[in-house]
Amino acid sequence: MTAALEPVGADLWVMDGPVAVDLLVVPYPTRMSIARLDDGGLWISSPIAATFEQLTEVAALGPVHHLLAPTPRHHWRLERWHQLFPDARLWSSPMGPFTLGRRRLPATTLTDQPPTDWAGQLDQACYRAPGFTELAFRHRPSRTLLLEDILQSHDHHPGRPLVNALVHLGGIAQPGGVPRDIRALTRDKDAARAFAEQVLGWDFDTVVLAHGPVIREDAHALVRHAFAWLLDDG
Ligand SMILES: [Fe+2]
Repeated sequence: MTAALEPVGADLWVMDGPVAVDLLVVPYPTRMSIARLDDGGLWISSPIAATFEQLTEVAALGPVHHLLAPTPRHHWRLERWHQLFPDARLWSSPMGPFTLGRRRLPATTLTDQPPTDWAGQLDQACYRAPGFTELAFRHRPSRTLLLEDILQSHDHHPGRPLVNALVHLGGIAQPGGVPRDIRALTRDKDAARAFAEQVLGWDFDTVVLAHGPVIREDAHALVRHAFAWLLDDG
């Protein structure tokens, strides 16, 4: 049985896809976020490998106008949705060595500035590390922060000590953190700190994690804690 649309707040939903398995045998749940913009069109971040039933549910919300891969490791997910919705505009984080599925898709590169298509409805900020740039979004109507790989929170897996050890070593066990590999890539700490401060300066009370739960309690404190290694270091 596949996951249904889950309302998060005003004009914002999430839908879970199949669990992918990372190279290090850690199961990765997949999730997409869907915002309905003021013009009625859908803005979809990190589209999942959806079933027919799931696509039907999404299509009932409105026309698909924007498909985004805000992190390099979700770029591959754009291709199938591009085939299904060829009129939707594609958006991607900058290409780099960590981009998965570097197909020649007609995607526009996302920057710190929201395009006019969603300015005033979604705010955005870039986390920049060499070869890895990820976008964070704040959806204003629902007061929700949308994060992809930059902050993850993985469940404990009973009876799977190797998976649990890898999750713990990776810094992404509950309640959540910035993955150790992303931290290791982060050379410009001042820029990373500015990102964390910008995100924490946004007004939000819910956080959607692409790899983790939808957090509705103490969401701001969780994000602050996850970035403490930057914020408390000078
Ligand atoms: Fe991811």
